[in-house]
Amino acid sequence: MAILKIARMGHPVLHGVAEKVDDPTDPEIAVLVEDMIDTLEDARGIGLAAPQVHVPKRVVIFFVPLGRGRVQDEGESDYDEEDESMEELTVMINPEIEPIDDAVEVDWEACLSVPDLMGAVSRHARIRYRWSDLHGESHERNASGFHARAVQHECDHLDGMLYPMRMPDLKFLGFAQETEQNLPMMRAGRQFAESKSEDDS
Ligand code: NI
Repeated sequence: MAILKIARMGHPVLHGVAEKVDDPTDPEIAVLVEDMIDTLEDARGIGLAAPQVHVPKRVVIFFVPLGRGRVQDEGESDYDEEDESMEELTVMINPEIEPIDDAVEVDWEACLSVPDLMGAVSRHARIRYRWSDLHGESHERNASGFHARAVQHECDHLDGMLYPMRMPDLKFLGFAQETEQNLPMMRAGRQFAESKSEDDS
C-alpha cells in the first residue's frame, strides 16, 4: 500500500498526453492501480487519473457515489438508457469516450489537482465509453448526468486537460467554500453558464 503524491495544476505531468498502456495485464499496472486506490481513498476523491500521481499512462479509477448516478433537472428530456447508481470502483485502462449526441450540460466540478476550488464546466450530457480492465478484457457502458461528467473529467487528465480549461466562463471558478456558501449565486451562475454555452454552440 502506498499513498502517492498528487500533482497540482501547474505541474507539467498534468499538461501532457499520457501514453497508452501496451499490456493492461502488466503487474506494474496492477501495483499502480492499488496505489491509486489508496491515494483516492486517502484524498476522499471520487476519481483519479495516473498523471495526477505523476505517472503519464492512460489509467483512470473512479466511482459514482450512490445517489449521484442520475441527478436530473426538471424538464430534462427523457433518457431511458440504463444509468445505474454505482458505488463500485471502476478501473479503466486506455479508456475511450464517444458522445452519444450533441447535448451539452454545464455543472460544477472540483479536482484533487486543483485543490479548494470549484467551477462550472461544459460536458457532453450523454456518452458511450470503452476501456480495458486489468485482465485485458474490454468493457463498454453508456452514461449520462454525473456519471458521464465524472468519466469525461477523469479521461481529460489523460490528454493534459484540467476542468478550468473547459469552463465557458472563468467568472464561475471560485473557492469551494465561498461558492457553496452562496447557493443562489451558484444557481444563477449555472444558468448564466448554460445560456452562454448555448450561445457558443
Ligand atoms: Ni481531476
